[in-house]
Amino acid sequence: MEHKIRVMYTEEEVEKRVREIAAQITKDYNHEEVHLICILKGSIFFTAELAKRITLPVSLDFMSVSSYGNGSESSGRIRVVKDLDENIEGKNVIVVEDIIDSGRTLSFLLDMLSARKPKSLKLCTLLNKPDRRVVDIPVDYIGFDIPDEFVVGYGMDYAQKYRTLPYIGVVEL
Ligand code: IMP
Ligand code: MG
Repeated sequence: MEHKIRVMYTEEEVEKRVREIAAQITKDYNHEEVHLICILKGSIFFTAELAKRITLPVSLDFMSVSSYGNGSESSGRIRVVKDLDENIEGKNVIVVEDIIDSGRTLSFLLDMLSARKPKSLKLCTLLNKPDRRVVDIPVDYIGFDIPDEFVVGYGMDYAQKYRTLPYIGVVEL
């Protein structure tokens, strides 16, 4: 079934905001090297665009996690489907996410990654749903705060669909 998708942020609006965040990261890390961790699959486009705009030495790694939730609700019990290839000890790590909803996934992930002794550990998300937060986690960089609506595009899916839309839209159910 095809759904009606209402545009929330156009491709141009997203690109502008990604450039702003990249400029902020470049400034904050002041000539140091940053190690971006892309959380698959949702943050592939965001990570790629962000990484290209950061004018510091950048390295990339990828991680895939799956939540034992029922449907669209995450449970907080997370399984690592694909772990990082590289050690993060002593690195300036930035976890790059597509969207933070309850915060359960990231809370689990941040605990796990901080135990690996990075030099610093920050969190960057394209979208944030503050009204849905269950677990309080510190978010260092936020693209847009959005209301409690289900969004797709720019990497985000609804049952694996709409991930490759170049803009961010809302699925009209
Ligand atoms: P959390 O553990 O509840 O914060 O879940 C975050 C994850 O749920 C995100 O990384 C997404 O994979 C997924 N998610 C939450 N809200 C949306 C949405 O509106 N669209 C697409 N995926 C979402
Ligand atoms: Mg995700």
